Amino acid sequence: MSTRPTNLQRLDSVGERRCPGIVYLVGAGPGDPELLTLRAARLLTQADTVVYDHLVGDGILGLIRKEADLIYVGKEKSCHTLPQGEINALIVRLARQGKQVVRLKGGDPFIFGRGGEEAEVLADEDIPFEIVPGVTAASGVSSYAGIPLTHRDYAQSCVFATGHLKDDSLDLDWVNLAHPRQTVVIYMGLGALPEICRQLMAHGRAANIPAAVVEQGTTDKQRVVTGTLTTLPQLVAERKMKSPCLIIIGEVVALQEKLQWFHPDATASLGHAAIA
Ligand SMILES: C[S@@+](CC[C@H](N)C(=O)[O-])C[C@H]1O[C@@H](n2cnc3c(N)ncnc32)[C@H](O)[C@@H]1O
Repeated sequence: MSTRPTNLQRLDSVGERRCPGIVYLVGAGPGDPELLTLRAARLLTQADTVVYDHLVGDGILGLIRKEADLIYVGKEKSCHTLPQGEINALIVRLARQGKQVVRLKGGDPFIFGRGGEEAEVLADEDIPFEIVPGVTAASGVSSYAGIPLTHRDYAQSCVFATGHLKDDSLDLDWVNLAHPRQTVVIYMGLGALPEICRQLMAHGRAANIPAAVVEQGTTDKQRVVTGTLTTLPQLVAERKMKSPCLIIIGEVVALQEKLQWFHPDATASLGHAAIA
């Protein structure tokens, strides 16, 4: 077991709190407020300030303490309301003012959420922080779409990748992504879908491997389109699918027809909270 003191302990050990504030990096899950952790829901009712991203829906924002300050920092692709450096500086500043800050992010903060970068800054600045995991899109969206990411008959491994790289290039490890009996989940890959399918086929995946795109998964606007590596790009273009979308590729996608259980139109009658 590690003997390294935690961020909080380090401050307590000097007998005084140089910084009474704290930052919670909280995962809001993929959309359905019912998927929030108890810890996340509790922190939202206690926060002084909530700094949130564009993927956090109204159903979740509605749970925040009425007296709390809400700061929207955006972060849609190529449309950052506040650059990352300024977000980092903002949460440090708020904590130094003694605030209990919730930095609320879609999905899980540590999966394509820049939570690692923000936690590093907090550690460097000696600001107490905690990480509250959330249901990541791969897990939540695949479940609501009825696509198991692993299955003993079809996929023994699952890999998450991003289809959006820092400099807009798509330089993924195609050899590893094209492994057989593996499910590939791609975040932020909608714009690169034709290239992703082309590269996987060029690296050995069969043209008829099932593949899906799920738009706004877990919400009342969820749409699922399934096809194959050959047909999916055109199907998605015809349906004019828009971000946020998750791409799932692998034999497990064939189970979607049988396992789909979430019907957004029926969410109200099932008691599911719909997200505006
Ligand atoms: C910046 S990443 C954030 C991922 C997040 N940290 C997580 O763990 O899910 C945003 C991408 O996640 C995926 N995503 C997040 N929520 C989604 C949803 N409800 N439906 C489909 N895709 C979603 C999309 O690929 C979207 O472009």
